[in-house]
Amino acid sequence: MPDAPPKLTILPDAAALAQAAATRLLARLAEPRERFAVGLTGGSSPEGLYRLLATEPYRNQIPWERVHWFWGDDRFVPQDDARSNAGAARRLFLDRTLAPPANMHAIPTEAANPDEAARRYEAQLREFYRADRLDPARPLFDVVLMGVGNDGHTASLFPGQAQLDETKRWVVGVPQAGQEPFVPRVTLTFPALASTRDMLFLVTGRGKREIMARLLAGADLPAARAHCDGDLVWLVDRDAAPERRDVA
Ligand code: 6PG
Repeated sequence: MPDAPPKLTILPDAAALAQAAATRLLARLAEPRERFAVGLTGGSSPEGLYRLLATEPYRNQIPWERVHWFWGDDRFVPQDDARSNAGAARRLFLDRTLAPPANMHAIPTEAANPDEAARRYEAQLREFYRADRLDPARPLFDVVLMGVGNDGHTASLFPGQAQLDETKRWVVGVPQAGQEPFVPRVTLTFPALASTRDMLFLVTGRGKREIMARLLAGADLPAARAHCDGDLVWLVDRDAAPERRDVA
């Protein structure tokens, strides 16, 4: 069950939301760390942020050599398929920057099936983390980006599906998506997504207003179950906000 309805930061529009997200991400990446891990998301909401990261002054401030890019979920399609979350992030920003290809850790959708891809990705994450157990005092990620679907799903954790209750695995296969595109998925689980200093939900557009109203009313939807060892931040543009509030 959700702990409490999300507390939203409302931005005037999608451009302001992308800037707020970029500023928060850059602040994390300015910390004195040997390396960083960022969990990316799919869908339309992060597109503005991704484009921004490939432009100045943002691009110049990212320590590309030390940042490792992972994905919270992906569709089980090749990276050059238009539905691939990894492909989208690469086209929108990673391939336009100095990000070393070795730092882009896409979910291996060339595996035989989603379960096999999940096992391989979990092994990669454990190796990166250098441990088999997640320690809340030492998060796996610095920043995890999240989105919300119209049905309340987040990452590829869909309402009513068994993956919501997974407590041990870090990554699982999802044989059937609950929403378009209806291709199998591979997703990180709530415990793995929670292992981050910042979890940033990005929500834009009028089409999200109804689901945001349900979340604020305390509905037990996957996005409401997301939790975080660090700071959980909901960045929502005014179009997606269910009622008029003061703009942040
Ligand atoms: C995916 C995403 C998913 C997404 C939401 C919102 O692969 O579909 O990771 O969780 O964030 O569906 O997508 P939109 O921003 O396009 O509405």
